[in-house]
Amino acid sequence: MTIKPIQFVPDPILRKAALPVEKITDSIKQLLDDMAETMYDAPGIGLAAPQIGELKRVIVMDCSRDEETNELWQMINPIIIQSSEESSTLEEGCLSIPGHNSEVSRPNWVELRFTDINGKEQQIKAEGLLAACVQHEIDHLNGILFIDHISKLKRDIIWRKVLKEARQT
Ligand code: NI
Repeated sequence: MTIKPIQFVPDPILRKAALPVEKITDSIKQLLDDMAETMYDAPGIGLAAPQIGELKRVIVMDCSRDEETNELWQMINPIIIQSSEESSTLEEGCLSIPGHNSEVSRPNWVELRFTDINGKEQQIKAEGLLAACVQHEIDHLNGILFIDHISKLKRDIIWRKVLKEARQT
């Protein structure tokens, strides 16, 4: 497993749509494992392939708060098939926008379908933090960032800081 460099805003790759994975090859399995390693190292609770420069529909997550038991999800071609009408608000951050958090409102639960690392089709209902996390990560596969879900005022504040930080590095 290899820790990969994370791409930060305003890198244009973060705004591109990722392509579906047609076949689960050894290189896809390697990518999923590298992504898990990179996420744990950061540390973060979710990572999408475009964030390490790979435009593939692949995400990893671990939203377990208990440090002793990991709950690693590695999803290929995840799609949301149903979401709740009720929303809840959670504070979100993103490994590609380090140091900036904001409250984001999203459906409480989502039902999703994905292919796991063994090529098996799975369908699960995600609730709570996992629901927010999976929606955030699937957004990345469509070039959408959490700052797109907040008010223009808040987004402009974050964006100004991001551009200033980018100039300084
Ligand atoms: Ni993110």
